[in-house]
Amino acid sequence: MNLTKQAQLLRPFFWSHQRYDLKLKLIAALGCLILAKASNLATPWLLGLLVDDLNGEAIIPTWVLGAIGLVVVYALSRLFALVFSELREVFFTHVSQHAIRLLTRQTFAHLHQLPLDFHLSRHTGSLDRLVDRGTKAIDFLLRYIVFNVGPTLIELGLVCIIVWSLFGGFYALIITATVLIYIILTLKMTSWRLRFRREMNSADNLVAGRMVDSFVNVENVRLFTNENYEIERLDRGLSEYERAANQSRLSLLYLNLSQTLIVLTGVTAVLIMAALNVESGVLTVGGFVTLNTYILQAFQPLNFLGSIYRQIRQSLIDMESLFDVLDEPVENDAIDATHEVTDSRISFNDVHFAYESDRPILQGVSFTVQPKQTVAIVGETGCGKTTIGKLLLKIIEPNQGSIQFGRHDLSQLKREAIRKAIGVVPQDTVLFNDTLGHNVRYGNVSATDDEVRAALRLAGMGEFLDQLASGLETEVGARGLKLSGGEKQRIAIARVILKNPPIVLLDEATSSLDVSTERQVQTNLEMLSSDRTTLVIAHRLSTIRYADLILVMHDGIISESGNFDDLLAANGRFKALWDMQQRASDLDGTDLADVVEDWKKN
Ligand SMILES: Nc1ncnc2c1ncn2[C@@H]1O[C@H](COP(=O)(O)OP(=O)(O)OP(=O)(O)O)[C@@H](O)[C@H]1O
Ligand SMILES: [Mg+2]
Repeated sequence: MNLTKQAQLLRPFFWSHQRYDLKLKLIAALGCLILAKASNLATPWLLGLLVDDLNGEAIIPTWVLGAIGLVVVYALSRLFALVFSELREVFFTHVSQHAIRLLTRQTFAHLHQLPLDFHLSRHTGSLDRLVDRGTKAIDFLLRYIVFNVGPTLIELGLVCIIVWSLFGGFYALIITATVLIYIILTLKMTSWRLRFRREMNSADNLVAGRMVDSFVNVENVRLFTNENYEIERLDRGLSEYERAANQSRLSLLYLNLSQTLIVLTGVTAVLIMAALNVESGVLTVGGFVTLNTYILQAFQPLNFLGSIYRQIRQSLIDMESLFDVLDEPVENDAIDATHEVTDSRISFNDVHFAYESDRPILQGVSFTVQPKQTVAIVGETGCGKTTIGKLLLKIIEPNQGSIQFGRHDLSQLKREAIRKAIGVVPQDTVLFNDTLGHNVRYGNVSATDDEVRAALRLAGMGEFLDQLASGLETEVGARGLKLSGGEKQRIAIARVILKNPPIVLLDEATSSLDVSTERQVQTNLEMLSSDRTTLVIAHRLSTIRYADLILVMHDGIISESGNFDDLLAANGRFKALWDMQQRASDLDGTDLADVVEDWKKN
């Protein structure tokens, strides 16, 4: 994407027809910029007039002002220069902050429309840094190119013209040459210095990444007493940063020294010439002062040229990555897609699916769930049960075959409509780092506190809720880590109860519960699914006895199906799985001490 295209994309954020006030503010900011620069340019000239007036050799009549009047005007011009540049910043900040808000909002919305895969393949936290850096980069670029670099170059040009007209071309030539050498040297040396900067950045990212990872895994660190190992690992990154930072500072010394040498050479040349001219009477003392002030004033903004140039380059990269994300294609539904799922009959017809082309997961899955039926899917780990749920939710789409809700093919339904119709209790429940109430209310954001409490009770969390001093306001901690696995799962169930959808998908909904809680939640789930179409994914076969239909998955297809008793009688894979689980649960019942005793004897 080139710069003009990026500028076109950015325009609506800064120049919007709906916001005349912001347009006016942008114009006001430009006006203030011109006024500030004009005041700035007048200052040295006024100072020169003042010196000449005091010297009694005024060559330009100072009107009625006199020396005191000139002092006042001189002071005012300095004041105006400051006031107008401050006002310019204030006006522009209004415009740019609004643009940042719009852009961040739009990017956030865009990110939520991207396929799940996009998010899964990124590091946590990297997206938020990308958006933050990208929007700040755009602010920086506009602020500095429009209000700093551009005007400074124009000001330099004007200084040269003024000097030319007041004092002749020779002075102007020296100033121009000095400025050009200064700029070229600064750009070249800054490019050279970028190397150290890059080393610093990569060391910094390394340190930040290791720190985050270390704290995310804080439990692992404790369990394996690897604190020292972690500290050493972090310190290697820190020492890398230390070295690069020292080198970078040394290179800044070289840059600053060379810049100062160039400026001083230019200033000395101009002032020696001016001194000679004053002595020979060609130039007034006021002229000498004006020249000195102009040349110093011309170089002042150039001090920051190096760092601004570096930041502009960095900002262009940051902006580019933001636009790359905005360019990512979003998940699109067909234009004529239906907005509502009216029929809760679900059918899979010869569905094939593979995450990676060389490893097929589903190889021709077909089944039908009638409205209000409960259908269970069982099969060994990794056989594709959760994948069936994802296909149903249109998070992924089949490579071959079709999925239907009633008469509608999945491709004719809006994602939103499908997801509204299905309530999911996922295999792993991850919670927002917020209150218990917030997390449950996520199922229906307009639910009242009483409805939230009722849902929690139905999910078997009544007793738990009564024990909490702050009730629904209890914080659940990062990703819900302050709760037990079973508690998290019941929160997920409460959410679905609150959502009250016509179809429910339970992915191992009771796997983290102990036996007695499982029975209780099982009853609640049966109630939840009694008048809804239900798809249950289960490991523990005892929990799906009541299902109308059980599908046994093996090698990417449905290898057996029927109700619980039929499948046991068929004496196939299901029966084998069942027998195995029965034996395992018998083992659960043996005393642990006996097992340990046996182990010691052997
Ligand atoms: N996003 C993904 N990219 C690539 N492969 C994936 C992805 N998600 C799942 N898989 C693979 O697809 C296979 C099926 O995964 P799925 O989650 O459907 O299994 P499952 O039957 O639910 O297993 P479990 O009983 O352990 O929950 C697994 O081998 C898994 O490694
Ligand atoms: Mg699964």
